[in-house]
Amino acid sequence: MAKKPTDNLSPLYTYRDGMEWNPVEKVIMERRSIRNFKKEPVPDNLIRRVLEAGRFAPTAANAQPWKFIVVKDQALIAEMERATVRISKFLMWFVDYNRNAFRRIFLAPYTKFMTRLMPNKLHPVPFNLLQQIAAENATVYYNAPVMILLLIDKRGIGNPALDAGICGQNIVLAAHSLGLGTCWIGMMTVLMMNPFWRRKLGIKSPYELTDCIVLGWPKGDYDGEVTREVQLVEWIETNGVKRIERQGDVIC
Ligand SMILES: Cc1cc2nc3c(=O)[nH]c(=O)nc-3n(C[C@H](O)[C@H](O)[C@H](O)COP(=O)(O)O)c2cc1C
Repeated sequence: MAKKPTDNLSPLYTYRDGMEWNPVEKVIMERRSIRNFKKEPVPDNLIRRVLEAGRFAPTAANAQPWKFIVVKDQALIAEMERATVRISKFLMWFVDYNRNAFRRIFLAPYTKFMTRLMPNKLHPVPFNLLQQIAAENATVYYNAPVMILLLIDKRGIGNPALDAGICGQNIVLAAHSLGLGTCWIGMMTVLMMNPFWRRKLGIKSPYELTDCIVLGWPKGDYDGEVTREVQLVEWIETNGVKRIERQGDVIC
């Protein structure tokens, strides 16, 4: 197997121009969302270790506005999968205007209006995924052996959803560094539309659940540097001198 440039790692806590990634940077650069898992269970201690990375995430005013629920019950995960598919079908029935001419005429304006009202939630990418899930062409939780439900405490200070996002990033990076695969599942929101499931999972105000992280042993090799857009970054130097740099092209 060809050696990756990240195979020669730099030591932590040092920097010189052009040096190789250190182990932390390597984990950040190579983590990918994993959507195919082995059936093998994940030891409880390993789950605890990953949660510990989440628990140590920084938060506004150290509010730690979250609660974790670990789901290992395979029957429950399968039930959640089926329920999410059912709700997706129901939602698609209301918004999918491409199925016939009648729907194109009468439903399209309504769906387009809703899309404008909720541009993030009804963006084409999650919308297409929802369509695939409703058509049973895609799974929601990827048959992962573990789900970490990352509940947000709405009483948090500032922007608790941001705190929870940082916590989740700690979780996925720690998991990757330990050989586990993860995938964030925003589609969990679909399941949370049903109060039955909120009750069943014990999610009540001030907590809310929008995303979960599925976790397990990856099947196949998904490692690799991810493609990302080059960012045009404005640098404001001494005396207010501004310049634009193409972050991603520059050797650092
Ligand atoms: C908040 C959030 C929600 C996501 N929801 C889903 C999801 O429901 N289903 C899915 O397959 N991937 C989901 N993803 C994974 C993204 O598609 C993925 O991170 C992105 O395409 C970049 O790929 P990478 O993670 O391999 O770098 C989600 C990611 C984030 C951060």
